[in-house]
Amino acid sequence: MSMNKTNFSLATTSDGSFSLHESKLDELYHNRAGAFTEAMVTYVEPACQYFKEKMAAGHSLSVLDSCFGLGYNSLALANYIQKNQKNQKIGLDIDCIEIDGSVLELLPQVVDQPCLSEIAQAFKNSAVNLADFNGGTIAADSVRFQIFICDLRLFVQKAQRKMGGYDLIFHDPFSPKKVPELWTVDLFRHYHRLLADGGVIFTYSSAPAVRGALLELGFKVFRTTALGGKVGGTMAIRAECDTVTIAPGDCILTLSADELKRLTTSSRVPYRDENLGAGKEQILVRREAEQKIFLSK
Ligand SMILES: C[S@@+](CC[C@H](N)C(=O)[O-])C[C@H]1O[C@@H](n2cnc3c(N)ncnc32)[C@H](O)[C@@H]1O
Repeated sequence: MSMNKTNFSLATTSDGSFSLHESKLDELYHNRAGAFTEAMVTYVEPACQYFKEKMAAGHSLSVLDSCFGLGYNSLALANYIQKNQKNQKIGLDIDCIEIDGSVLELLPQVVDQPCLSEIAQAFKNSAVNLADFNGGTIAADSVRFQIFICDLRLFVQKAQRKMGGYDLIFHDPFSPKKVPELWTVDLFRHYHRLLADGGVIFTYSSAPAVRGALLELGFKVFRTTALGGKVGGTMAIRAECDTVTIAPGDCILTLSADELKRLTTSSRVPYRDENLGAGKEQILVRREAEQKIFLSK
């Protein structure tokens, strides 16, 4: 497997699918329990549960995959649809944002794994060549990936709301503590603008600062299934009305008493970055100051 970059190295996860380790941040791209498993448990399964009726009725889905990396999240979604909706393949229109074009060199190897065989076959049938791919469009069967090599903060500022808005946003940057600039209430405000009514964000993070930001914007916040010793990710629904109805299932859960309690403490104070241009230190210092004010009330 070839790679031109020196700031990440290959890593294997417990389900056998490969991941990357980013050396500057000292972070793995995925949950150690499995890169593919994480994509399924944290993103695809709850998304397909939430949109079950819409998918059964043949509606297409418009998706934003923020921090595409090796692309597991949207590839696993496309793979799932190829596999489970053979008679009625719904359209998937996926905008993918990634700052580092060099990770795309690994796409052929990602797709070559047995866990992604259905989408690999669709690419083969459509004569898609991932080997020299460095951004732009990939289309196969009813799926279209549009890959933008750019900074997420710039993308969301420039993005026009698509007709109807995104149904789904997969938010998958490195951790909030290490990259707070990609977890701010101000970035999520753009997600709110870009989402359809009833549209949802999924992320692996359960941090109160992240959930606090989503609650501040009026999102309805739920928990997704825990994986690899973590407490479970977050699902946030953009709902115009006060109550939302969710089809019963075991991968979307209400927040526990403990999680709700943490959301009453200063931990819920969000990261802020009004102009989407502040540095990490500035954002952290500002949050600390806001937490002190919170505690003094
Ligand atoms: C945790 S990894 C994402 C894993 C990915 N979703 C996957 O399935 O492989 C985070 C990714 O965010 C990218 N990234 C970092 N800063 C970014 C930014 N400002 N805008 C867009 N992408 C960014 C990194 O290059 C990396 O590929």
